[in-house]
Amino acid sequence: MPNENVTEKDVLRALSQVQDPDLKKDLVALGMIKDVRVKDGEISFTIVLTTPACPLKNKLENDSRDAVLKLPGVKAVKVKFDSSVVPFKKISAEDLIPQVKNTIAVASGKGGVGKSTISVNLALALSDCLAKVGLFDADIYGPTIPQMLGVKSGNGSVGKEVYAKAGKIIPVENFNLKIISIDFFLEESTPVIWRGPLVAGAIQQFLRDVDWGELDYMIIDLPPGTGDAQLTLAQTIPLTGVVIVTTPQDVAKKIAVKALKLFQQLNVPILGIIENMSYFVCPHCGKRSDIFNSGGGRKAGQDLGVPFLGEIPLDMNLRVSGDEGEPFLLKFPDSEISQIFAQIAGNLARQISILSHK
Ligand SMILES: Nc1ncnc2c1ncn2[C@@H]1O[C@H](COP(=O)(O)OP(=O)(O)O)[C@@H](O)[C@H]1O
Ligand SMILES: [Mg+2]
Repeated sequence: MPNENVTEKDVLRALSQVQDPDLKKDLVALGMIKDVRVKDGEISFTIVLTTPACPLKNKLENDSRDAVLKLPGVKAVKVKFDSSVVPFKKISAEDLIPQVKNTIAVASGKGGVGKSTISVNLALALSDCLAKVGLFDADIYGPTIPQMLGVKSGNGSVGKEVYAKAGKIIPVENFNLKIISIDFFLEESTPVIWRGPLVAGAIQQFLRDVDWGELDYMIIDLPPGTGDAQLTLAQTIPLTGVVIVTTPQDVAKKIAVKALKLFQQLNVPILGIIENMSYFVCPHCGKRSDIFNSGGGRKAGQDLGVPFLGEIPLDMNLRVSGDEGEPFLLKFPDSEISQIFAQIAGNLARQISILSHK
């Protein structure tokens, strides 16, 4: 009876032949295998992924199944999944949010390129994979996140307001996201005329005084540009890294590269570039047009040696859903663009996992 001979040790040995293609080590050495069970030639084990949004899930499942099936006497293999996000920030004594494992700033050279739209839909795509996600609207001068998530104060969003409990501000929660924005604290149409140091103070307060709880990912929607305020922000928040959003136009790209270089100078890792409004697919005939000449983001990524995370087309529903406070990803979950967002979120989570293992 050969199957009686298969042991847990054999299974681990077989799995130590399976590499994580990103982390370039085997699954056993990475501590990703747990709960190995062997019974009558039937094997089960759990792979603990470094992110629930792992795009390599299928590959790891197939590779490890194949490896274990090669053992003599194995009749069936059951692979289960779990995940544990590795914390990665420049942890310092003055870390104001020690329970937040990763902070991802979304930045752009100029406004109107879709930074907030992307922040919202990426946050939702990560949360869709069961990650715990917060969305911090740090665009002090033009906060739009509450509007986009249907929690703008005074919009009839009863019960969706910030309140304090035990001396801490409790974030607004909607669609499974914890949300904080300066918009929750301002009177309607009050212009914000703060200068850099005041902005930094407000940002610090939103980190220190808000009860964010435990988060796998905090997405931070930064103000556009490369000014004083951005600089202060980038230095105030312990960042895992930054995502740069651009559109394909030459001008937009040039300023995006400028923003990217600023973060590099500040030693903030660049997690990748996203190209928005990349192309347009005609809803009537299905023909694709590269209105602004797509592909610039990918090329900039190659030239600068930073990851390219993906491209998002121009789509009227994307704009409408943002205006109406009903996020695209939730309104059109089966659309191609929602799949693109899921892919980009996976690519992003993957870059973070790679960074955490370095
Ligand atoms: N891919 C897209 N297709 C169509 N409209 C978009 C797209 N991305 C963003 N928009 C719209 O463009 C405007 C600016 O986007 P926004 O996310 O607010 O940019 P930013 O935060 O960079 O200023 C918004 O009205 C938004 O709905
Ligand atoms: Mg914005």
